[in-house]
Amino acid sequence: TERTLVLVKPDGVARQLTGEVLRRIEAKGYRIAALELRTADRDLLAQHYAEHQGKPFFEPLVEFMLSGPVVAAVVEGQRVIEGFRSLAGTTDPTVAAPGTIRGDLGRDWGTAVVQNLVHGSDSPESAAREIGLWFPAL
Ligand code: GTP
Ligand code: MG
Repeated sequence: TERTLVLVKPDGVARQLTGEVLRRIEAKGYRIAALELRTADRDLLAQHYAEHQGKPFFEPLVEFMLSGPVVAAVVEGQRVIEGFRSLAGTTDPTVAAPGTIRGDLGRDWGTAVVQNLVHGSDSPESAAREIGLWFPAL
C-alpha cells in the first residue's frame, strides 16, 4: 500500500479544523501511520517547497507556513496519494469543489498567499521525499 504526507497548514490548525481533516481521512478508510503537531523551520520548508523556489509566491508561502504550528501526518492506503488530493480539492479554495476539504472549509481571505488548509504529496516521488523530510525516522 501507498503512503502520502499530509499537512494541516497553520490556517487549519488555527481554525481548529485538525479533527475535521483527520475525520475525513479516516472516514474515507485511510490509516494514520504517523501524526505530529510541530512548528516548521525555514530550512525544512525550503526543502519541502523546493519546486516553488524563485516563484513570486514562494516567500509569502514560507512566511505563512511559519506563522503557526502545523499537523504533519503520514497517511496510508491503496492509491492514497491520488485519493487524498481528491479529498483536498484543487489549490484555490474559492473554486474547489463542494464536498472537498478546501471546497467545504476554505475561502479566500485576501492574504498574501492563498490559505488552503491542507497539503498532500502530489506524486509517489514527492511522497517519498516529503515523508523523509518530515519523518526521517520512518
Ligand atoms: P500544496 O498541497 O500546499 O503543495 O498545494 P498544491 O499542491 O495544491 O499547490 P502547489 O504545490 O502548486 O502550491 C503550493 C502552495 O503555493 C499553494 O497551496 C498555494 O498556497 C501557493 N500557490 C501555488 N500556486 C500559486 C499561485 O499561482 N499564486 C499564488 N499566490 N500562490 C500559489
Ligand atoms: Mg503541491
